[in-house]
Amino acid sequence: MFAKQTYIERRNELRRRMPKGGIVVLPGNSEAPRNYFDNAYAFRQDSTFLYFFGLQNADLVGVIDLDNEQDWLFGNDYTVDDIIWMGPQPSVSELGASVGVANTAPFAAARDHIQAAIRSGRKVHYLVPYRGEGVLLMSQLTGIKTTEHYAHCSADLIINVAAMREEKSAEEIEELQRAFQIGYDMHTTAMRLTREGVSERVIAGAMEGVTHQYGEGVSFHSIVSQHGETLHNHSHDGICTNGRLLLVDAGGESVNNYCSDHTRTFPVSGKFTPEQRDIYNIVLSAHDEVLKVARPGQYMNLHNVALKSLAEGLIGVGLMKGNADEAVAAGAVGLFMPHGLGHGLGMDVHDCEAMGERGMRDFSKIVARAEEVDTCIMRSRWRLRPGTVLTDEPGIYFIPALIEQWKGEGKCKEFINYDKLGRFYEFGGIRLEDDLLITEDGNMMLGEGKHIPITVEEVEAFMAER
Ligand code: GLY
Ligand code: MN
Ligand code: MN
Repeated sequence: MFAKQTYIERRNELRRRMPKGGIVVLPGNSEAPRNYFDNAYAFRQDSTFLYFFGLQNADLVGVIDLDNEQDWLFGNDYTVDDIIWMGPQPSVSELGASVGVANTAPFAAARDHIQAAIRSGRKVHYLVPYRGEGVLLMSQLTGIKTTEHYAHCSADLIINVAAMREEKSAEEIEELQRAFQIGYDMHTTAMRLTREGVSERVIAGAMEGVTHQYGEGVSFHSIVSQHGETLHNHSHDGICTNGRLLLVDAGGESVNNYCSDHTRTFPVSGKFTPEQRDIYNIVLSAHDEVLKVARPGQYMNLHNVALKSLAEGLIGVGLMKGNADEAVAAGAVGLFMPHGLGHGLGMDVHDCEAMGERGMRDFSKIVARAEEVDTCIMRSRWRLRPGTVLTDEPGIYFIPALIEQWKGEGKCKEFINYDKLGRFYEFGGIRLEDDLLITEDGNMMLGEGKHIPITVEEVEAFMAER
């Protein structure tokens, strides 16, 4: 948790940005039972609640008043029955005081407070809830049907929260540096353990252990797979085999819930084959080209810089043909990299995505205000600014089903040498991912000068020592 003043200033800043005449309702998360109430998944607070209220307790509702400085925190004090199991706990008024909120009341009073605002004609601003419990709670608080939250969520709030959360402060960047260190330890642990005969599960488990030693666990399900061509492959059932590449895409959360997200792809044997090295170096060049040019400006430019670099490399090894710019414009590189170059990173590993084009089922309300939507919640319009943190994660994947589909359709056949791709069906995929902070005139990779081994020489040297 940061100092109380941080949360006071954030709420005041939101008040300055939002239209007058309403309240902002930000519920925290509740516990999510695994199979009975007292055996819950690890609690993870809602990131926007955390951003404005900083508290890690379940079952709280924060309200920011846009017409005065009377913010509220609603929640129930723990009873002695709770304390028997949980130990001594602060009261809700003590929690409120710790983040500069003087007005507190029991949980049930939140509904009355919000209903009173509605009756007096004030606008109730809220974000679309993304969990079942949150959907039900928002309906109880506002009286809006569970099926109608997309229609009633607040575009003003989405746009302003995303803009604030995207611009990282110095103390947030320190947290992201801590998350980097966890990511570094995870990935070097994975490299150290990888060898013929070791199961992917053992590597994933050891790596995830690091996230619990130094932080709050993983920032997303770890991807540890020799089938790197499957973009989000959460199976860890494979046994490491010499000659294969292992793709590890994983990150951890700092104690204050800031995330890292890195990918490395390395040979189980510790030595790349010449063919693996060629494809790997094409991905690495695209990754490095992005580092050379990332600065305040449009995200899509960076995406296209990466695609062009991949196209040049793939033309160089004979898997593509023609002109690289034309291949990018035709969408041909999408056969090899069917995903975006990167995404925002912060308290969510895909930052603010629950309220973005990829999280909301109906984004039209926001698109209608396209001029204002230039944060990471809409990548085609994303304008990188100093303080933006994003991932740089190009890849080349040989996905047999996709290749077969494109080949069958003759798609982009003027740019793709389909006859050369047959022997890559067993290759897998390569992705390389690092986390960048956009600065006033360029960018820096998180890690304060340290990086997870990435060049062929660095990877092979590291693995030779394992
Ligand atoms: N964590 C998956 C990704 O890199 O976006
Ligand atoms: Mn990743
Ligand atoms: Mn990522």
